[in-house]
Amino acid sequence: MTALRAGRRQVNEHAWDLRTGVHLRSSFYDVPSVRAGRCTLGERELSLAGDVTGVRLLHLQCHFGLDTLSWARRGALATGVDFSQTGVAEARALSAELDVPAVFHRADVQDLPAGLTGFDLAVASYGVMCWLDDLSAWASSVHGALRPGGRFLLVEFHPLLELALPGSVSGHGSYFGVPDPPPTTTSGTYTDRDAPISYEEYRWQHPVGDVVNALVGAGLELTSLGEHPDSPVPLFDQGLEGSPFALAPRTYSITARRKP
Ligand SMILES: C[S@@+](CC[C@H](N)C(=O)[O-])C[C@H]1O[C@@H](n2cnc3c(N)ncnc32)[C@H](O)[C@@H]1O
Repeated sequence: MTALRAGRRQVNEHAWDLRTGVHLRSSFYDVPSVRAGRCTLGERELSLAGDVTGVRLLHLQCHFGLDTLSWARRGALATGVDFSQTGVAEARALSAELDVPAVFHRADVQDLPAGLTGFDLAVASYGVMCWLDDLSAWASSVHGALRPGGRFLLVEFHPLLELALPGSVSGHGSYFGVPDPPPTTTSGTYTDRDAPISYEEYRWQHPVGDVVNALVGAGLELTSLGEHPDSPVPLFDQGLEGSPFALAPRTYSITARRKP
């Protein structure tokens, strides 16, 4: 890893450590309802994943583990990965508290440890791609984590949202973005714009075509690509009425598999 990339990663890890502390107590993530049994997964990822009973599932960029634990409650043998020390620590604590077994690793999803391999299904969802600076490394990591024949599922906010609501996805204000963006300074976080935190972060804009090509380039077979007018996650719902983007896709989904 180059010094430039390592430096950006450190900046983003710090940002996510700070955010996680706020998110844990937010109504957006609503941890008490998860304690009471709420499933945090949306219909789209549930239907694309199918029955996960007994499935060795790797949840990429798992944040503090709510979705990972939801997959585990549905019978998956779940492993979550995130680069935030705070996120992973809180995920482990919640798993123990709720007595929902899951394993959590601290790692960069663009550089997964060689031991994380043999998974039947790898999943990433909502708010993940804009943090990645190297799609080839990410796609190789996904490929390496899957067993032959294993599946990959991505459901993500559509990069068009960056044109519709400039600053919302990557901060680049364009569909295509730039490879070496400057850091932006952010105050608060999406669960609480007034939260008393301020930090720098790096974000990248990834057109859908670049994501698909990275996965295919790493040796995965594309099995579906969907663009959807809706989102189960209540972000970016406001501000599009009456704009040319009112009917634009809010989310997209990709399924792929490692060749058998
Ligand atoms: C929007 S959140 C997770 C999305 C999930 N839908 C959620 O709301 O729980 C993005 C996550 O990506 C993690 N992350 C960002 N860049 C990463 C990287 N390079 N490797 C691993 N995790 C990363 C952050 O720590 C954060 O937990």
